[in-house]
Amino acid sequence: MSGGIFLPEAAAIKVSKTSVQKTLTLLKRLALLNRELKLQREKDHVHIPLIRMPNADELKELKASLLAFEISKRKLLESAKQPARLSDLLSGKLPSHVLANLPHAIDFIGDIAVIEIPPELEPYKQDIGEAILKAHKRVKTVLSKWGAVSGVYRLRDFEVISGETRTLTVHREYGCVFHVDLAKAYFSPRLSYEHARIASLIQEGETVIDMFAGVGPFSILIAKKHTNTQIYAIDVNPDAHVFLKKNVVANRVIDKVTPILGDTRQIINEKLAGVADRVIMNLPERAIEYVDVACKSLKPKVGIVHYYEFVKQPEPIETAKKSLAEAIRQTNRELHKIVHARIVRGVAPFTYQVVVDARIK
Ligand SMILES: C[S@@+](CC[C@H](N)C(=O)[O-])C[C@H]1O[C@@H](n2cnc3c(N)ncnc32)[C@H](O)[C@@H]1O
Repeated sequence: MSGGIFLPEAAAIKVSKTSVQKTLTLLKRLALLNRELKLQREKDHVHIPLIRMPNADELKELKASLLAFEISKRKLLESAKQPARLSDLLSGKLPSHVLANLPHAIDFIGDIAVIEIPPELEPYKQDIGEAILKAHKRVKTVLSKWGAVSGVYRLRDFEVISGETRTLTVHREYGCVFHVDLAKAYFSPRLSYEHARIASLIQEGETVIDMFAGVGPFSILIAKKHTNTQIYAIDVNPDAHVFLKKNVVANRVIDKVTPILGDTRQIINEKLAGVADRVIMNLPERAIEYVDVACKSLKPKVGIVHYYEFVKQPEPIETAKKSLAEAIRQTNRELHKIVHARIVRGVAPFTYQVVVDARIK
């Protein structure tokens, strides 16, 4: 038997050996993966620990993505490779009410960790930053978010709370590298599953327009995964465009991705009308204003739109489907079918980023 302490029974999902990677990615996105316990192998199957039993919505997501799985309670071994817990590192240094409210969500972008410090933890931010550096050896800089993502370029301010003073890093995702300066161009690791999901839908030979490309996470992954595809990657932010060009070179996809600097409406009207099999509209707060031009960019017969929107409860998925359908009705194209729709992530209390994949005639 491998070494380790058996803990009390915990929820676990049993999947085939071949689905482990996919399941891990999905569980991380749903924030269900229990990193404190070890995976347990059993012939052709693996039991993956969960932090709790999935709720009805999470079960729906699991069923939609996995061919077969079972959920049960099991005794699993404690993981040996757990990074030190923030609360352990800070215990004795901070008052207990502060320890109880430590931020849970840390985004890791390359060697930078990004957290949100609530006002009551402001006096302790340096201690928290130092503890993150200690707990996560590859992290060199800890940033705290200042305010919301805003403006045309979708940027936010950051404060360096410990480590090296910089916002520039190199992030790795699904075998691609992304150079990005977080203060100058948008990037979120919380979209990594969505980048991979869209890349997996592309058919060989397709022409894709990434209407709001940022530093290129959709475009570059698509190009990496497919040998015969052409992607036009448009962004209006000159800094994002510079990183996009750098990333196209770094990932060796210059023959497949064409970075274009400018306003997506103007670019499509001037040179990309009727060329695309598929368009990606990842500007959730304003994509609705560009549905007409997305339709215009599609080939005349049929095309696919991946439409993103920020939507509040109740029924965020239905609301996004309706607003896309209504916007298409205002054009000379027709909504043939909604192929898929799902919640990508929560962005604020009761507010979600939703994606709708639609076939347009
Ligand atoms: C939410 S970010 C998404 C970036 C990228 N797709 C990703 O997944 O990381 C939206 C991007 O759209 C760009 N943008 C906003 N308005 C635009 C417009 N009218 N034309 C082209 N790009 C635009 C912003 O500069 C920003 O980089």
